[in-house]
Amino acid sequence: MTDLSQAFNDAHILVIGGAGFVGSNLTRIILASSKKVQVHIIDNLLSAERVNVPDDSRVRFTEGSIVDDHILEQLQDHYDYIFHLATYHGNQSSIFDPLADHENNTLTTLKLFERIKNFKKIKKVVYSSAGCSVAEKTFGEAKASKEVDLVSLDMDSPYSISKIIGEFYAKYYFKQHQLPTVRARFQNVFGPGEILGAGKWRGTPATVWRNVAPTFIYRAIKQQPLPLENQGIATRDFIYVDDIARGLMHCALYGNVGDVYNLASGKEITIAQLAETINRFVENPAGLEFLPKRSWDNSGKRFGCTEKSKRELGFEAKTDFEQGLKQTIEWTKNHLALIEQTVAKHKHHLTK
Ligand SMILES: NC(=O)c1ccc[n+]([C@@H]2O[C@H](COP(=O)([O-])OP(=O)(O)OC[C@H]3O[C@@H](n4cnc5c(N)ncnc54)[C@H](O)[C@@H]3O)[C@@H](O)[C@H]2O)c1
Repeated sequence: MTDLSQAFNDAHILVIGGAGFVGSNLTRIILASSKKVQVHIIDNLLSAERVNVPDDSRVRFTEGSIVDDHILEQLQDHYDYIFHLATYHGNQSSIFDPLADHENNTLTTLKLFERIKNFKKIKKVVYSSAGCSVAEKTFGEAKASKEVDLVSLDMDSPYSISKIIGEFYAKYYFKQHQLPTVRARFQNVFGPGEILGAGKWRGTPATVWRNVAPTFIYRAIKQQPLPLENQGIATRDFIYVDDIARGLMHCALYGNVGDVYNLASGKEITIAQLAETINRFVENPAGLEFLPKRSWDNSGKRFGCTEKSKRELGFEAKTDFEQGLKQTIEWTKNHLALIEQTVAKHKHHLTK
């Protein structure tokens, strides 16, 4: 595996969406990799908390949206690497409010690329795409999705549509303007730093409950039953957040411009297996609660192929699933007061 120590040396790095779950972990790992690196974070705190921005003199934080012209005008041609992680989180909120998704998930990408297309100093712009936009929709046996797989027009949510439009623009701005974009297609990320209820209310309970791993961990700690839709037969490829952060760094340093790489563990885990493992680690007496399948969700079983990123980036996820879960449970227990606070912010919406 390629060594990342001192990888960014004294680079200037821009992380858009850097207060979020992945962005804040990426920033922390970049800061640990080099003493002289400078990180500028731009984030409108739509699905993030200010407390997630690392408190470090090498970090500058701008609160605002990357679609606002006065924020874009502040971007000057002095960044070596840009990580574009801003998104409208997540599928269910995007179904509730497709226009808000468009503003924060599609326009963000287009306006950013348009602003930086003639910048000369940038070595790489890494765009965070999502495996869900590409994966085959099946409840039968899943095949590892590869970077070359064809993209279907049949998408389950505006979120998925926006993520893939971002890929189209990344490719287009590379071809037309030689903007050195690299697309990172992630599978399902889990780990410390994903704060339930982070940011502003986005129209649905998914504002609070975000992704399955942090939700199950929180509920298990509170000794509540874990809700299993469709018997928990769906599968996901869970990748630990430190691995995603390293994968993004590999994309920036070693990715071929104009190209795309999966960031995945390559392992398929059922949602039932996730729930049972969490209940076992937390010793949750409340067990499981069986619910019907969500009507909009046809994503079924999926996992990512790791061959290309191993071969071309020298990247491999190294955190074992159970070890990662134990670390996430520990982090959640240690940050329960903060999580209770961010969940409580939305209580009046949840009880309506
Ligand atoms: N977490 C996952 O499992 C996963 C899987 C696939 C892809 N991704 C992608 O990874 C990226 C990071 O995801 P995450 O899980 O950290 O989500 P997140 O919601 O924690 O982070 C997204 C960040 O973008 C910010 N943001 C939203 N609109 C913005 C705007 N207009 N201007 C500036 N900032 C804005 C939010 O406030 C938030 O901090 C996203 O692009 C997401 O689509 C995540």
